[in-house]
Amino acid sequence: MLIFAHRGASGYAPENTVKAMQLALDMGASAVELDIHLVEDELYVFHDRWLDPKSSGKGLISGHSKAALAKVSLDGEPIPTLWQLMAAMQPRPLVNIELKGENTAEPLIVLYPRLISELGYTSQQLLISSFNHRYLLEVKQALPEALVAPLVEGVPLDFAACGDKLDAFSIHLDVNFITEEMVSDAHSRGLKVYVYTVDREQDILWMQQMGVDGIFTNYPDRAQQILQ
Ligand code: G3P
Ligand code: MG
Repeated sequence: MLIFAHRGASGYAPENTVKAMQLALDMGASAVELDIHLVEDELYVFHDRWLDPKSSGKGLISGHSKAALAKVSLDGEPIPTLWQLMAAMQPRPLVNIELKGENTAEPLIVLYPRLISELGYTSQQLLISSFNHRYLLEVKQALPEALVAPLVEGVPLDFAACGDKLDAFSIHLDVNFITEEMVSDAHSRGLKVYVYTVDREQDILWMQQMGVDGIFTNYPDRAQQILQ
């Protein structure tokens, strides 16, 4: 099973920071997940819509200027731009970029070719996901080679059909709603199944037993040990 460090090794370091990502890579993780928001014309790596209570800032992240955001930190770690974080990670992992917030698809479409040509990522190392499936449609239409993945929280009436509509690589499911039917429907459509957020040993072993292809976990080192 593939292990994604969820928001980096976020069980040990402030989530979605360079520190959390590098720690995950140092632990041997080959895949990481992160969340992005748009601020002015720049994509930033941060999970919530609101800066508080997770950071030293207050208010909606989208309501800030880039200059104001530069002064905000999470336990002393700055909020990185997507570019800064992608440039910092060594060795280059598989990166699941989750589009959050408003209007994040278009700036990512602009950045995507530069991640490949300037930073050396391959299209196979960039997996774009979102709960907003319309963002993914935008990405896929602009960048047919991009790997996209719908995030799904429950069990839709048509199971994993959204994956077909998006010509997706994988479907990302919530551990709280996962069923064998959903997993086998996704597999029959040729989709990989990656499940979030799986931290408990019992759940990790259950995912393995169900034949899921990967998990998102805040403790990538622990997951590795459990699966060895
Ligand atoms: O991408 C998997 C997972 O991160 C989705 O939920 O809220 O943790 O971004 P969330
Ligand atoms: Mg996420």
